[in-house]
Amino acid sequence: MSELHVVNHPLITHKLAIMRNKKTGSKDFRDLLEEIAMLMGYELTRDLPLEDVYIETPISKMKTQMVKGRKLAIVPILRAGLGMVDGLLNLVPVAKVGHIGLYRDPETHLPVEYYCKLPPDINQRLVILVDPMLATGGSAVDALTKLKDRGCTNIRFMCLVSAPEGVAKVQAAHPDVDIYTAALDEKLNENAYIVPGLGDAGDRIFGTI
Ligand code: PRP
Ligand code: URA
Repeated sequence: MSELHVVNHPLITHKLAIMRNKKTGSKDFRDLLEEIAMLMGYELTRDLPLEDVYIETPISKMKTQMVKGRKLAIVPILRAGLGMVDGLLNLVPVAKVGHIGLYRDPETHLPVEYYCKLPPDINQRLVILVDPMLATGGSAVDALTKLKDRGCTNIRFMCLVSAPEGVAKVQAAHPDVDIYTAALDEKLNENAYIVPGLGDAGDRIFGTI
């Protein structure tokens, strides 16, 4: 069964409180999203497998360890997921980046796909799918299905704010995918927005409100 990791850290809670405030403008919102993505990425990568390597320091030879295998791919769900990519790339600069474009139909709230470009070897990588908001869960479920259709078997989903409805939907459809979130909020409203949430993440990042 997929695990829900609520990443608790005073700095994340503090930064997220500023982001939630409706008075916070786009520049601060973007900067904070990037910072939180990096802090969450630190937690998400805590159990990456290591392998022994032999190197030479200026003083002597030594056996030490480095991250094993083909490393990572970061896949943002467009648009809002883009705001989390640079924070993760600060941590793992060699990661490849794929993109999945989805928007929610305003009437049905169902995701509509408009773009997909993924690294050719993505099926050999640990994939971190990122999107600040997990609301109904429709977008995350579709993006995860797309990644699995491309052969990905090792996927984690990282979001900033989640609703119980979205968590349940992702866990039911993709029980092998762990979810990392900075906050589990109360519910969805009648427009399928997260309550209390932070509003429309894409609009707040890009100033399109
Ligand atoms: C938002 C958000 C998620 C989706 C979450 O994107 O960034 O992708 O809604 O909702 P769900 O869990 O109910 O599917 P939106 O459709 O507003 O597109 P945008 O990022 O381009 O603004
Ligand atoms: N998408 C957002 O950007 N915010 C929500 O609260 C729900 C979906």
